[in-house]
Amino acid sequence: MRILKIIAIVALVALIGIQFIPTTRNQSDVVPVTDFIATYNPPKEVESMLRTSCYDCHSNNTKYPWYNKIQPLAMLLEDHIKHGSEELNFSEFGDYSDRRKKSKLKSFIRQVEQDEMPLESYTLIHRDAKISKSEKKLVLNWINKVLDSI
Ligand code: HEC
Repeated sequence: MRILKIIAIVALVALIGIQFIPTTRNQSDVVPVTDFIATYNPPKEVESMLRTSCYDCHSNNTKYPWYNKIQPLAMLLEDHIKHGSEELNFSEFGDYSDRRKKSKLKSFIRQVEQDEMPLESYTLIHRDAKISKSEKKLVLNWINKVLDSI
């Protein structure tokens, strides 16, 4: 029993300790001209799906959830934002070469078709970010059109 008590206290102290780890905020008020939505002007439903389901990790502007104040959740989110926007950043999409744009949109289609994106660890908490079957059809149709226009 004693050992369990010690472990519990150590864990609690560690949990309190990590609350002081600072995080950087990925937020910007300006919508750059290179922004994907600003450039391709999607239908309303597609726009709102992109904003709710993808932009938190794939743009320069994250809408931070309440749990971003709590570690280790904040670190996890920060890591997702860092890696997600390195791979694909909708705020900077216009700066990509045509070849890169196409390959990213093809990857977009693959990821959404196979339910790889948005990440499950994210939709677990952000229930509204889950993509329904009809939304999926709509967004993939539209992405295919954009792909044809590049
Ligand atoms: C919780 C954060 C998060 C959300 C939300 C999210 N992604 Fe991602 N995404 C990532 C991370 C992290 C990676 C890189 C690592 C990986 O592939 O798992 C990634 C990778 C990708 C890639 C691969 C890029 C490449 O180079 O092939 C595509 C495409 C993508 N995401 C599209 C989307 C789309 C579309 C949505 C919305 C429907 C979305 N993501 C939502 C975090 C996220």
